[in-house]
Amino acid sequence: MNASSSMNNAILQVEHLSMKFGGLVAIGDLSFQAKRGEITALIGPNGAGKTTVFNCITGFYKPSEGMITLNLRDGNNFLLERLPNHEIPARAKVARTFQNIRLFSGMTLLENLLVAQHNKLMKASGYTILGLFGYSGYRKASAESIELARHWLEKANLVDRADDPAGDLPYGAQRRLEIARAMCTGPELLCLDEPAAGLNPKESAALNALLMDIKDNTGTSILLIEHDMSVVMQISDHVVVLEYGRKISDGDPQSVRTDPRVIAAYLGVDDEEVETVLTEVGDEDVIEQLDAGPDSAHGPGTSSSYLAGPVTDTIGHSEGERVTVSKGASRAGQVDERAKAAASKAASPAAKSAAKSSAAKSSKAKPAAKAPSGRASGKTTGPAAGKRGGRK
Ligand SMILES: Nc1ncnc2c1ncn2[C@@H]1O[C@H](COP(=O)(O)OP(=O)(O)OP(=O)(O)O)[C@@H](O)[C@H]1O
Ligand SMILES: [Mg+2]
Repeated sequence: MNASSSMNNAILQVEHLSMKFGGLVAIGDLSFQAKRGEITALIGPNGAGKTTVFNCITGFYKPSEGMITLNLRDGNNFLLERLPNHEIPARAKVARTFQNIRLFSGMTLLENLLVAQHNKLMKASGYTILGLFGYSGYRKASAESIELARHWLEKANLVDRADDPAGDLPYGAQRRLEIARAMCTGPELLCLDEPAAGLNPKESAALNALLMDIKDNTGTSILLIEHDMSVVMQISDHVVVLEYGRKISDGDPQSVRTDPRVIAAYLGVDDEEVETVLTEVGDEDVIEQLDAGPDSAHGPGTSSSYLAGPVTDTIGHSEGERVTVSKGASRAGQVDERAKAAASKAASPAAKSAAKSSAAKSSKAKPAAKAPSGRASGKTTGPAAGKRGGRK
């Protein structure tokens, strides 16, 4: 596949995206693509920057640097970072749900889905009160909106509760209602922020079924943030992994699940313990790959860490106060140290083998306290067990 066909195939292209809050680099030089008609999952430990990526895509934040291109089926494309917020759903056809449920809890399910179609109805009314009473275009649009709402209530298995207040629904059903509401806006890209959070296994299965239905029958592409690996591994076509705002892995679910960087990130161990823990889980190949240092194709340049961006020494507050941040406060510093150590090990085979034998020895001497026992037993398959993995 040549470059131009791969570009057309991508509904979303994020290129060199950075988002800084004062001295905190929430996202650093992030690039990835979401392909049309696929489910792309964005995963990573808490605070990795996943929601910040969504906020940049959907216009809640204007990125500090980078480009976000949305390619519609009709050939139109938009640079989302330049589009006014309200035009992102309307023109670029991007819809989202939030990490915390945001429904109109006092309104019925049907009303929630009709509110989502407000723009279409207002346009049909000719923006006049007369339109609401007599204008045939409005009556037609109104009937279509109710039909569309009904369609999505059926898909979400909620049609029996159409006239109940949304706040009365169980949690899993509220999540599906949010997705149904987003689908009523006719999106080409649907961004879901942790839709499976707090769901029981039955509700998770219902969510998976709804998302697969959307993927197979509407052509809407899905970008999914999720901690629930049973959802990610079962339904995603492509997974992008973030840690400390940096991309640490990018590929199909199977390759990501066995990526040593992802395993290390989800084990939630201190950097200096990673090698020890990986020795304990018994994967020599993983250790070899870690020894080779950061993968430049997935992370930033060779000079800095592949996990975190540099943090400036001082932060300016709006009140004018300036706070000095110690170097040690930055994960970037620690990870840079690890990258340097890996580089020097690679340069010296003798030192490398010595380090490995010392890691093996220390693994015998000291159990990995932070690694859950299932993983330490060698049965781990990457992040599969890490529902809320990671470091804070
Ligand atoms: N508006 C903001 N101002 C300052 N810092 C922010 C802001 N929004 C996010 N951050 C910081 O950016 C980092 C990434 O946060 P983000 O919410 O994107 O993480 P996340 O991957 O979605 O985490 P979680 O899995 O817990 O939802 C965090 O350190 C967070 O504190
Ligand atoms: Mg989040």
